[in-house]
Amino acid sequence: MRIAIANAKGGVAKTTSSIYIASVIVSRGGRAVVYDADPQSSASLWAAAAEQTADPLTFDVLPANQATLRQLAAGADPDEWAIIDAPPQGPTLDMAIKAADFVIVPASDSPMDLQQAWSTLDMARMSTPAALLLVKAEHNTKAFRDTMDALNAMDTPRFDTIVPKAQSYKRSLGTNPHQLGEYRDLVTELQQIAGSRSETMQGNYQPLARPVPFDDVLRQQNKTSKATGEPLVMLSLRIPVSLKTRLKTTAAAHDLPMQQLLRDAIERELDRLDGDDEP
Ligand SMILES: Nc1ncnc2c1ncn2[C@@H]1O[C@H](COP(=O)(O)OP(=O)(O)OP(=O)(O)O)[C@@H](O)[C@H]1O
Ligand SMILES: [Mg+2]
Repeated sequence: MRIAIANAKGGVAKTTSSIYIASVIVSRGGRAVVYDADPQSSASLWAAAAEQTADPLTFDVLPANQATLRQLAAGADPDEWAIIDAPPQGPTLDMAIKAADFVIVPASDSPMDLQQAWSTLDMARMSTPAALLLVKAEHNTKAFRDTMDALNAMDTPRFDTIVPKAQSYKRSLGTNPHQLGEYRDLVTELQQIAGSRSETMQGNYQPLARPVPFDDVLRQQNKTSKATGEPLVMLSLRIPVSLKTRLKTTAAAHDLPMQQLLRDAIERELDRLDGDDEP
């Protein structure tokens, strides 16, 4: 089973999750390798730090570039779990997603960060089954409740396991972790997915049909509105296929970008509603 851990957002426990998942697999008698595809090399640094102690990691952490991942995509040892700690963007991220049988998108319980997780998830699902993993969660907060509501409202595929914010995870950096906590439940879920792949992947995890280059979305996301200079955010929404087709044909007929049409339509509708409110 090849698993990529990816999110364009930084600091969402991608590296921590890679190390813990591999640790759980080995603790259950399995074989695991972490492929460090992030130029920050955090997973490799973690392994090197642990190597300096009497208690090193129980699996290899190998540096991985596009060629390594291409090789992994072409064929992998079916008995080995390959965990790819993916970079935030670029062709290596695309390759990591393509090489994986399953993509985990870790996201913290901040509604503000969900857009980025959703766009990573949507991009991943163009080619590979994927699900969101809530990490660093603080259960008794409004942010947590709002995040759960948003995930449920959007019918977001996610793991039942939720990794709470905890000092034990934070302190484990650079060590061989022994208290594997919620990651044990996560690996149980992953083992179920691996075991009944065809069945599980029919449902919510099913990949979407049409490939879109991930970089295009990121570029779009980072763009600033030319007209107003305001920063732009990414908005994902589900609309009926018929409406999308109409949007596409009308945009083409008038030689306008679809985004422009959508934005104008939203603004017009908001103006209309605001106008209705006035006495
Ligand atoms: N469950 C957790 N509870 C508390 N702190 C955590 C938890 N998981 C990770 N952290 C901490 O959050 C920080 C970011 O984690 P990590 O480096 O794994 O994220 P990342 O997504 O790999 O970041 P980057 O974008 O830099 O690659 C680290 O300080 C880590 O120790
Ligand atoms: Mg990292």
